[in-house]
Amino acid sequence: MIKLINETVDYLKAKGFEAPEIGIILGTGLGQLIQDIRILKEVSYNHIPNFPTATVEFHKGKLVYGELEGKRVVVMEGRFHVYEGYTLQDVTFPVRIMEKLGIKTLLVSNAAGAINLDYNKGELMLIEDHINLQGSSPLAFTGVDQLGERFTDMSAPYDPQINATFKTIAHRHHMILHVGVYASVVGPQLETRAEYRMLKILGADAVGMSTVPEIIVANHLNLKVAAVSVLTDECDPDNLEPISIPDIISAATKAEPNMIILFKELIKTL
Ligand code: HPA
Repeated sequence: MIKLINETVDYLKAKGFEAPEIGIILGTGLGQLIQDIRILKEVSYNHIPNFPTATVEFHKGKLVYGELEGKRVVVMEGRFHVYEGYTLQDVTFPVRIMEKLGIKTLLVSNAAGAINLDYNKGELMLIEDHINLQGSSPLAFTGVDQLGERFTDMSAPYDPQINATFKTIAHRHHMILHVGVYASVVGPQLETRAEYRMLKILGADAVGMSTVPEIIVANHLNLKVAAVSVLTDECDPDNLEPISIPDIISAATKAEPNMIILFKELIKTL
């Protein structure tokens, strides 16, 4: 793994990805943030040595380097999911690359279903803690201890200071920003009613198919991390409607302007 990481980092440095301070994973509902970045370099994932190749069609699959609010950023435009057939090590490889390039902070967005029925479709939720239901760990491989502490502490995986700043920004902009626990499943099938009931009992406020692997690796690398979900559907087991992907995307698009304000204002403070 170290050899692969070095090879990829050397390639990106030669392309001009110089000393980014912040890494951003643009999930569903934050794609338009790219418009505000002064792009200096960009490379398709399928040109980057050792990168998994992009398959999710509504994600563009590019690594972008540029400036946002005066900060040097490296941005994943599109992310990898286990449901596409990648391993947890593949999915999180880009986080290791961004860290080696120099980032100190990782910001993540995603789309999630609302398990907490006080939270509504189209609203945002700051992730304060998570439950890993992906069935394994991105740290479960030989040699992980050469890259960081194998028994990574997860007592506070999301940076309390960044989260406090997010809350202040949301308040200042009269924006609803719920706070909660995100459960990460593999997917790609949505949940059954019995699974939504289970997730609620487990203490989840939202459920999605991403983010937790990247957050675990970011903690392994001692990065500061924060993540925001856009709630795209309401997972009420007693009144469950069939979930439509176009509806999910449209709810995410509606919430996007608020998500963009949150991220841009936060980056100003970093
Ligand atoms: N379940 C899992 N993942 C999701 C959902 C959901 O209801 N909504 C958006 N991503």
